[in-house]
Amino acid sequence: MAEAQKSPLRDGLRHWEHRLGKATDSLAVDFVESLSFDRRLYKYDIVGSIAHAEMLSEQKLLTKDELKQIKDALIEISRQIGEGKFKFDKKYEDIHMAIEASLIAKIGEAGKKLHTGRSRNDQVATDMRLWMRDEIEIIQAKIVSLQKAFVKLAEKYAEAIMPGYTHLQRAQPISVAAYLLSFVEQLNRDWLRLKNSRLLLNVSPLGSGAIAGSSLPLDRKKTCGLLGFSDITYNTVDSVSNRDFCADFIFGCCLISAHLSKLAEDLIIFSTTEFDFIRIDDAFCTSSSMMPQKRNPDMLELIRGKTGSVYGSLMAILTILKAQPSGYNRDLQEDKVHCFKAADTIEACVDMARAIVENTVFKTDKISAGLDKGFLDATSLAEYLVKKGIPFRTAHGIVGTLVAQCEKEGKALADVTIEQFKKSCNVIGEDVYQCLGSKNVACSYATAAAASPALMAEQVNYWKKHLAER
Ligand code: ARG
Repeated sequence: MAEAQKSPLRDGLRHWEHRLGKATDSLAVDFVESLSFDRRLYKYDIVGSIAHAEMLSEQKLLTKDELKQIKDALIEISRQIGEGKFKFDKKYEDIHMAIEASLIAKIGEAGKKLHTGRSRNDQVATDMRLWMRDEIEIIQAKIVSLQKAFVKLAEKYAEAIMPGYTHLQRAQPISVAAYLLSFVEQLNRDWLRLKNSRLLLNVSPLGSGAIAGSSLPLDRKKTCGLLGFSDITYNTVDSVSNRDFCADFIFGCCLISAHLSKLAEDLIIFSTTEFDFIRIDDAFCTSSSMMPQKRNPDMLELIRGKTGSVYGSLMAILTILKAQPSGYNRDLQEDKVHCFKAADTIEACVDMARAIVENTVFKTDKISAGLDKGFLDATSLAEYLVKKGIPFRTAHGIVGTLVAQCEKEGKALADVTIEQFKKSCNVIGEDVYQCLGSKNVACSYATAAAASPALMAEQVNYWKKHLAER
């Protein structure tokens, strides 16, 4: 090993201060630091550093002994941080420099070699990808738990019928299970979207250095393999500035949020006295400080409200990326604020939604007692006429007229006498009553994936099997 050189550098300075004529202004120290929020990357930073050191050693840029010292000290630092015993000092700006400073304090000269051929620019890009890979797995697992909660509820209400709404007006009867499984479908796309994001982000920028790579014989494929990336990135200029994966991830979070906000809105409406379709468990309600009777669905309202913050993160990252000059710019440090915020919010919302869904009761008696309102069987009657040879447009008109009459007389289509029916269209026979009433209608759907109870058992089984494999 080469003899440690007597340092020509002034002591007590942070390494970049040798270039700068002055100590950083205290306002600037507070302003520039990211240590307060990027410390959550510490494990990834250390894993990345160990891989980098392994590669340096293989390339003879570190001795075996130096590698061992570096690895041992980094593992020790990781332990200290994990146990809350690490002193984070914001003068080191970020997690990368805080760890490096601690490493050098522990082992001296060998520690000073870790940053060989590396910049914080490729380091942070690597850390963020490693963090996001894990975060995606966490969110995906939570999504699957929520999907399972929906499937369980769908199985419980396999036979139940409810009104399906379009424009929030009664449309056609549907199986309660079909309603519930609609969220399993949405969440499935969310899961796949995250999987796709992972695919795109899982490449290694490490070795791209500050912007140009390095004149040292770094083996990028080596660190790529050690860190479990599928390949290296192929342009160093792009590697240090690319945060597409952050925007992509946050967009994935936004759609999860959109779906959860739809769920929240539905459940809030369904739980009103006016609808009275469901009971949200007391454990997920709050009351009023003034009105003693209140049971407020605050958790659902917050799921809905937090959508604003997640969408805000998307707007933020897109704006951060807009018109940045090529290469690394400190603007990029802000990516973490929004990625972390979106991830934390989504984790909390998916968990909360799962707990609520698991404990929600559908008041099937109340729902079925009101099914004769709102002419949910009107389309079925039109299709009955089609089956008797009437063109659909004509049938639509005939039924529309009947509905208007019934509405005036305050009755349902099933209350119309056969004589009245025949007056409006003479092809109508006694069998018309089989196509009326919500239960009959819901059981008559014949198209693939239709919202009928009979088809739902199959869907429930499909999802049970599919989700068990995830
Ligand atoms: N804390 C910085 C970030 O999060 C690390 C990279 C800083 N690089 C630099 N050249 N100033 O982006």
